[in-house]
Amino acid sequence: MVTGLNHVSIAVPDLDAAARELKEKYGLQVGKPMVNAEQGVRLAYVELGVARIELIAPSRPDSPIAKFLERNPKGGIHHFCLGVNDVDETTRGFAQSGVRVLGGGKPQHNVAGERIAFLHPGDFLGALVELEEHKSLGD
Ligand code: CO
Repeated sequence: MVTGLNHVSIAVPDLDAAARELKEKYGLQVGKPMVNAEQGVRLAYVELGVARIELIAPSRPDSPIAKFLERNPKGGIHHFCLGVNDVDETTRGFAQSGVRVLGGGKPQHNVAGERIAFLHPGDFLGALVELEEHKSLGD
């Protein structure tokens, strides 16, 4: 079950430069950069109360974000993320509707260790969708 919008993710070629720009132009506070080795990304969040902006940059050359930046050298919106109460149950339900879940069902995790999954953009109006599990919100 979808419980809300968690974040919008922007791929950037330079995380520190992006953080500086958001602070200088918009007064937005970007949190401390972190690395998610599993996903191959360096990331930082802007907390906006109801949702967050996630800035992501490649943490290794074979990162999926590196491929995105090859096609979009200046960066751009990469995905948005919906909160769900249960990743397995939700993706099973979506799969029954014909939605392709990326990664072959292998468990994936965000930098906080929460369960995540990605849906094929072709099955959500052309947008890459991440699902992030928040047990407490949906139960
Ligand atoms: Co994300």
